[in-house]
Amino acid sequence: LPGDTCTMAGYARLKNVLLALQTRLRPPQEGSSRDDPTSQKRLLVESLFKDLDADGSGHLSSSELAQHMLKEQDLDEDLLGCSPADLLRFDDYNSDNSLTLHEFYTAFQVVQLSLAPEDRVSMTTVTVGLSTVLTCAVHGDLRPPIVWKRNGLTLNFLDLEDINDFGEDDSLYITKVTTIHMGNYTCHASGHEELFQTHVLQVNVPPVIRVYPETQAQEPGVAASLRCHAEGIPVPRITWLKNGMDVSAQMSKQLSLIANGSELHIGSVRYEDTGAYTCIAKNEVGVDEDISSLFIEDSARKTPAVANILWREEGLSVGNMFYVFSDNGIMVIHPMDCEIQRHLKPTEKVFMSYVRCPLCPVKKQNVTEPCFWSSSTVERYRQLWHPAPTLQFFSITELQSHSICLSIGVDPLPAKLSYDKSHDQVWVLSWGDVHRSKTSLQVITEASTGQGQHLIRTPFAGVDDFFIPPTNLIINHIRFGFILNKSGPAVHKVDLETLLLLKTIGLQQHSCMPQAMAHTHRGGYFFVQCGQDSSAPTTRQLIIDSVTDSVVGPNGDVAGTPHVSPDGRFVVSAAADSPWLHVQEVTTRGEIQTRYRLEVRPGISDLAFQRSFTEANQYDAYATLARGPGLLFLELPTGKAAVLKDLKGPPTGPSRPWGGPRRILRDSGLFGQYLLTPAQESLFLVNGRQNALRCEVSGIKGGTTVVWVGEV
Ligand SMILES: *[C@@H]1O[C@H](CO)[C@@H](O)[C@H](O)[C@H]1NC(C)=O
Ligand SMILES: *[C@@H]1O[C@H](CO)[C@@H](O)[C@H](O)[C@H]1NC(C)=O
Ligand SMILES: *[C@@H]1O[C@H](CO)[C@@H](O)[C@H](O)[C@H]1NC(C)=O
Ligand SMILES: *[C@@H]1O[C@H](CO)[C@@H](O)[C@H](O)[C@H]1NC(C)=O
Repeated sequence: LPGDTCTMAGYARLKNVLLALQTRLRPPQEGSSRDDPTSQKRLLVESLFKDLDADGSGHLSSSELAQHMLKEQDLDEDLLGCSPADLLRFDDYNSDNSLTLHEFYTAFQVVQLSLAPEDRVSMTTVTVGLSTVLTCAVHGDLRPPIVWKRNGLTLNFLDLEDINDFGEDDSLYITKVTTIHMGNYTCHASGHEELFQTHVLQVNVPPVIRVYPETQAQEPGVAASLRCHAEGIPVPRITWLKNGMDVSAQMSKQLSLIANGSELHIGSVRYEDTGAYTCIAKNEVGVDEDISSLFIEDSARKTPAVANILWREEGLSVGNMFYVFSDNGIMVIHPMDCEIQRHLKPTEKVFMSYVRCPLCPVKKQNVTEPCFWSSSTVERYRQLWHPAPTLQFFSITELQSHSICLSIGVDPLPAKLSYDKSHDQVWVLSWGDVHRSKTSLQVITEASTGQGQHLIRTPFAGVDDFFIPPTNLIINHIRFGFILNKSGPAVHKVDLETLLLLKTIGLQQHSCMPQAMAHTHRGGYFFVQCGQDSSAPTTRQLIIDSVTDSVVGPNGDVAGTPHVSPDGRFVVSAAADSPWLHVQEVTTRGEIQTRYRLEVRPGISDLAFQRSFTEANQYDAYATLARGPGLLFLELPTGKAAVLKDLKGPPTGPSRPWGGPRRILRDSGLFGQYLLTPAQESLFLVNGRQNALRCEVSGIKGGTTVVWVGEV
């Protein structure tokens, strides 16, 4: 046989020559859809096989191969003693003296990949906190390395903290799954993007529960409500026990469960209703429970424990009040009785040791200027901070009785404050001067200790705004914040603990000057509102993926300021200068779906979420209109909307120097049923449960900052 003298080197040259001849014989079609080199090679090898397979049997026999040799006698290249018949010697794996197309492909190193149709989409469900492995079902000989993508971004070279090991079989390892990881992951062999598998990752979360109130005392004959809120994925089911016994057997006119069990209602309480009521929330991956106690006592004040409960209910406690910062000073308002409980006048001097804190700037001639309250934060240690004219903080307990404050020497004109609960620190953005030309960001550590706080100056220059994602029942630790430089198309990611700049995410490709941000833990998306830039096509919102810290792209045609519901499920975008209110939902598969858009003229000033009173696991929204007295109510899942009309118009006059909505709206926490919004010379309290106006509190001008201090 001539093959006797054929070496590996000669054989390789033979195959190159065969392909070169075939290319000359059948040039690749220009502009064909499969014009990548690997597909072209595959087509070429396939056509060579067909040409050699004279009898069309699908097998190349030695005689068919030998015939081919004859045609090549005009070749001037030295094949080093090799001929096509040598294909049988080197690549006939099953030694049946013929070559199949598969063997032929292997001989010419054509990558053959396959993906079973049932593997095209693969569902994986993991419980939060565990690890998971996604294995790519694209198989085949000579498979190049697997490339993994999320939201169109390649993960392999990103050096991610929690997706850091691609293993020997190119699987994707997520070491500690959180809700930000939900979403689609695709895999394909490098260079073979057309054949890809989609892994849909769903993340389950065991229920987390809150009850309200923890204890209550009632006299016989009145109604009592025990409320329970549970979050989790899938949606938890709620049941109640009374003193350890299932209440569903005791249902009556008297005792009923409303809103899918999230409220236990007793129409008229009797002594025997006294008890420990356990709310239990359960889903596929876990259970949580908590107790709400009910005491029925005639002369309740006799026992100190119950007297204490009543005392709290009467609003004598520091919690469950609105704190309103206005031109008239600070007002403390209890929503139940619609009364001003405490009023600190602007001229009032409050003292702490020997430090004097005027509530408003005092001019030389003893004339008090109007106060420009900017924003305030409250934390559970009952402190209230307010930044103008110097940064001050009050202990709310003391504010009720003796008025105590402490002044902290931050940079001039502190304009925005935010409390980072996870690290117990307050971020303070100061303007430096009225032109905002010397902005600075300072951080007060150990904020809740009430003393011995440290003031740290961050090194960031030109900061215009910042964003710290909110915590919620499921996510109670936040690690990263963002700095916005409105004059530059980027957002800067900062480690909240070390206060170091970690990364800059450029938005210049989308000509986006960031104005505001919102975050949902579902799928880990950040929504960035972009400002107007006359030189660029208008991108109105961008989506950033927090797993990859990369821009996914524009958020469709959605415009305005994004607001995310406390459970991370709904994204409501609206603006004062746009008539469109967009509602999107983030599914438990991390998919952002547009639900609907509403036309609301002339636009929305501010928006607040409220837990539904009729459906468990649902939030509704209230919004103040940019102009005019109305208050919009919106059932988020259905889009059912109504306008509450009996309010007065929003504050007029010059807008606030610090910016922010002209007509703010505050809710009253997870279990609160009241909302507060200021008008020109009064405040309106709205009962969100009844969807009705509660009362007007008059004599309060310029109420530009409102804070709710609640127990839950
Ligand atoms: C709550 O109950 C209503 C009927 O009263 C039902 O239509 C709805 O699907 C339930 N929701 C949940 C989350 O179970
Ligand atoms: C300003 O107030 C101080 C102290 O309250 C007082 O002594 C002084 O007379 C006042 N000046 C004027 C111009 O009212
Ligand atoms: C923000 O922009 C200003 C002016 O463009 C620049 O001087 C400053 O360094 C920027 N800051 C950051 C944090 O990028
Ligand atoms: C994820 O993949 C599934 C299946 O292909 C698709 O239906 C879904 O829309 C994808 N989700 C996202 C967020 O792209």
